[in-house]
Amino acid sequence: MSAPEVGWTDALETDELWEGDILDVEVEGEQILLVHHNGGEILAFQGMCPHQEVLLADGEWNDEAGTLECPGHKWEFDMRTGEGLNPTGCKLFRFPVRVTDEQIQVCIPNDGKRHYNRANES
Ligand code: FES
Repeated sequence: MSAPEVGWTDALETDELWEGDILDVEVEGEQILLVHHNGGEILAFQGMCPHQEVLLADGEWNDEAGTLECPGHKWEFDMRTGEGLNPTGCKLFRFPVRVTDEQIQVCIPNDGKRHYNRANES
């Protein structure tokens, strides 16, 4: 039995996402939020809020705290873990990320499922 296939896909050129910044991209039909934390770590999460599918990239980004407040109804997320801070009990889907010389690449699971969590799902 083989492991589920996954797909590493170019998401963005590395010099397009500065340290301390966030950017939303669409990769293979997935809305993804790229986060380049101070210190250099780059993470990728679902781009839509788990509450009512508002674009998280339009929210209030605090690069020092690493938190993001959704513009919809001000839910707040820890963008190092994807965990909901206010309210708690929800979590953003996280995509694996790797960085090559020129590209930030995101791994899209090739499992036919939607890759975002909703607040009312466990
Ligand atoms: S849509 Fe994000 S908090 Fe409501």
